[in-house]
Amino acid sequence: MYNPFTLKGKTVFVSGASSGIGKAIAIECSKMGADVFITGRNAERLNSTFLELDKGNHMQIIADLQTDEGIKTVVEKMPSVDGIVHCAGIAKPLPFRFSGKEVMNEVMGINFYSPAILSQELLKNKKINRGASIVFISSVSGVLCSSVGGSVYSASKGAINGLVKGMAIELAAKMIRVNTVNPGMIDTNIYVAGTITQEQLNEDINRYPLKRYGKPEEVAYLVIYLLSDASSWVTGSGMVIDGGYTLL
Ligand SMILES: NC(=O)c1ccc[n+]([C@@H]2O[C@H](COP(=O)([O-])OP(=O)(O)OC[C@H]3O[C@@H](n4cnc5c(N)ncnc54)[C@H](OP(=O)(O)O)[C@@H]3O)[C@@H](O)[C@H]2O)c1
Repeated sequence: MYNPFTLKGKTVFVSGASSGIGKAIAIECSKMGADVFITGRNAERLNSTFLELDKGNHMQIIADLQTDEGIKTVVEKMPSVDGIVHCAGIAKPLPFRFSGKEVMNEVMGINFYSPAILSQELLKNKKINRGASIVFISSVSGVLCSSVGGSVYSASKGAINGLVKGMAIELAAKMIRVNTVNPGMIDTNIYVAGTITQEQLNEDINRYPLKRYGKPEEVAYLVIYLLSDASSWVTGSGMVIDGGYTLL
């Protein structure tokens, strides 16, 4: 059947696949025919994603991408891939004046340095196939807006969006495309439950023209487009998916 969005015959790496958006991306990519290579830190939750994958030649590996050892393990075990989705990330909301060097290192470490360095290592080790697509899960925060307590998180996501533009120019010679997906609020565990009241939550949701937060699967469908040959002329772009939030 004609389907320009198919991932059949492609191998796709997904980080942060043990939870939330990364989990949905891994599962939906497998449903679109990809063999997926997934990673996360929590063995039990990563395995639960693995068990939900549609049929295919899949692999899972536990790794802390904040460490050199974790990056080395992933690079060594990874087969050469046609798609990479950098999804692992943390939020760590804190007022700016309390966001010292330690917080900056932690947030920049996993949100910026890890995906950047992992991409470099994969390129050096020739693990990224000609014609591949690299997708960074960034955010509207730091690109189009921010929030109270979101300064360092925004900085890490803004940095990713800048990195992608330079990478896209350089990697075009190998026909490798590089893009970001910038979601608004998505229903996951990234913001620890209980930090805001139900009333505050409802008020926040009401700021969205579509009157709800996004679902992880909705982000996955955009990622599938960017991984597929349907987006073969799209590179260096930042795709916003936010229920209209940043229009207002
Ligand atoms: N949810 C939102 O509203 C939203 C909006 C915009 C952008 N995003 C971005 O989307 C991405 C995924 O967020 P999410 O909402 O799905 O969050 P989540 O449910 O908390 O998942 C985060 C994932 O990142 C992994 N991770 C964190 N630190 C890691 C490390 N040091 N090494 C390896 N893996 C690590 C976690 O693995 P373990 O659990 O196994 O440790 C988990 O799989 C993040 O980059 C986030 O910034 C989220």
